[in-house]
Amino acid sequence: MTDRLIERPRRLRRTEALRAMVRETRLAPEQLVQPFFVCPGEGVRREISSMPGVFNLSVDLAVEAALGAHRAGVGGVILFGLPETKDAQGSGAFVDDGIVQRALRAVKRAAPDLLCIADTCLCEYTDHGHCGPLDGGHVDNDATLEILGRTAVSQAAAGADVIAPSGMMDGMVGAIRGALDGAGFAHVPVMSYAVKYASAFYGPFREAADSTPQVGDRKGYQMDPANAREGLREAELDVRQGADMLMVKPALPYLDVIRAVSERFDLPVAAYHVSGEYAMIKAAAARGWIDERRVVDESLTAIARAGASTILTYYATEVAARLTGNS
Ligand code: PBG
Repeated sequence: MTDRLIERPRRLRRTEALRAMVRETRLAPEQLVQPFFVCPGEGVRREISSMPGVFNLSVDLAVEAALGAHRAGVGGVILFGLPETKDAQGSGAFVDDGIVQRALRAVKRAAPDLLCIADTCLCEYTDHGHCGPLDGGHVDNDATLEILGRTAVSQAAAGADVIAPSGMMDGMVGAIRGALDGAGFAHVPVMSYAVKYASAFYGPFREAADSTPQVGDRKGYQMDPANAREGLREAELDVRQGADMLMVKPALPYLDVIRAVSERFDLPVAAYHVSGEYAMIKAAAARGWIDERRVVDESLTAIARAGASTILTYYATEVAARLTGNS
């Protein structure tokens, strides 16, 4: 019998036209953010061995790459810096002619309406590789807050449209908000890396940003991957301190956390598809074991479906170009 009792969801999957009509999640180029690693020098373009297709770029070439990302239609870029010299305090993070400050000025000059996000953290600038000055082997939280405030102000002064603190210090959003407001940057939003895990997926980034801790690890400030409820507390604290957006990081292994944060808070949620997530796709694709494009699209779609409206990914320019048809 042709059983009228069988429900047939397959009817809406029969053709691409039907599937497209009922699709719940669509990626848009404007939601993608391309990270760049800016280094000293001129004409420098050094590939990161664990991140094929990602480079350390000197300011001149970072500008070119940013223009390419802009043409492709990305929503923005986020800048990380490799300074000329490092010290115990990470003071290279807030000097007026710091590497990220120079890059921000150059990119804003070349593309005034390209949204520029500054990663605000000290690990690339400290000689010991931790996210703030040390006191007896631990990061001195409150001393770090002061430096982060200065760093955010100098980045905003250099043209940063968004400040993105990633150091997981207690009180960092409030300290940065206060410093920005006090310096005439009340209009500059803070996208907080609110729920950031102590993750092995950051391995390739630390090669790219030369920011591996020389002793110990980051478990004293980044979160335990086992904890989801604690992530909601972290997010709550940042909301109270004035965060404008909340980020969850890494992305794919933490879809449950993205979902929980987006359901609990009425702020836009960003997710960072991190270096290790990128490296795994690249490595498997290089062996012909997976279809790179389809895995990338599926990964980013899953991150958006979980509740992220903004996705930071090393694939941003490539995917945006595919979505807009511009490269
Ligand atoms: C800086 C920072 C890190 C990442 C973004 N900002 C590294 C870390 O915390 O060790 C990781 C990004 C990635 O892996 O792609 N604190």
